[in-house]
Amino acid sequence: MSETWLSDTRSSYDADASGYFEKVRGLLGERPYLRASLALFAELVHGAGGGPVADVGCGPGYVTGHLHELGVDAFGIDISPEMIAIARREHPGLRFEVGTMTDLDLADGSVAGVLAFWSVIHVPDHAVPGVFDEFRRVLRPGGPLLVGFHVGDETRHTSEGYTGRPINVDSHHRSPGKVAGWLRDAGFTIEAELVIGPDEDGPGAVIFARSDA
Ligand SMILES: C[S@@+](CC[C@H](N)C(=O)[O-])C[C@H]1O[C@@H](n2cnc3c(N)ncnc32)[C@H](O)[C@@H]1O
Repeated sequence: MSETWLSDTRSSYDADASGYFEKVRGLLGERPYLRASLALFAELVHGAGGGPVADVGCGPGYVTGHLHELGVDAFGIDISPEMIAIARREHPGLRFEVGTMTDLDLADGSVAGVLAFWSVIHVPDHAVPGVFDEFRRVLRPGGPLLVGFHVGDETRHTSEGYTGRPINVDSHHRSPGKVAGWLRDAGFTIEAELVIGPDEDGPGAVIFARSDA
C-alpha cells in the first residue's frame, strides 16, 4: 500500500471503527431516500439476472445486510480490517473481506452489481478514474452500479474520530456532474441521479449507472 492516502484511510477507520459503527447503526431507518435507492438497486440487480453484488467500502456492513434482506447476494469489501471485523461480527452469515477498491481481488465480469456508499469520497481526484475502471472491470456487462457521495466542491479533513482518537482522513465532496463524467469515461451509462437534502447543510447524492455492454 504505497499511497499515503490509502494507508491513512485504513488506519483512520481502524482507529475509529467502533465509533463509526455506533454513529451509523440504525441510520437506514431514518433515511427513506437511501432505503428507496437500495430497493431500486436490488430490483435492478434482480432484473439483470441476479448474482453476487460487491458492497465496496462496506464499513460495518449494515448496507450489505440490508441488501441481503432484499434478496441480493451481497458481500462486503473494506480497506479497514477493524471495520471488516465488526461487519463479520454483526452479520455472521455474510461474506466480508479486507481489500481496496483501487485493486479489487475479483475476476473480470464476476459480479452482478457494485455498490459504493460514501467510500469513494476518500479517493482523491487523480485516483477516481482508476477506481471506476476497477468497478467496470469486475462488473458483468450491463450490470448496475450505485454510488453514494457527499455533494459539494471542497475537501474536508478530519483529524479526530467519533471516539476522540486522532485520525487523518480526507473526504472529497463533489458535484453529481463531476462524478457522472468520470463514470461515463470508465464505460458506464448514467441512468439516474438523486440529490438528497439539497437544502440541508451537507447534501448527499446517489448515482445509478450501468456498465456498458
Ligand atoms: C464513510 S465510510 C462508509 C461506510 C459504509 N459504506 C456506509 O455507507 O456507512 C467509508 C468506508 O470506506 C472504506 N474505504 C475507504 N477507502 C477505501 C478503499 N480504497 N477500498 C476499500 N474501502 C475503502 C473505509 O474503510 C470506510 O469503511
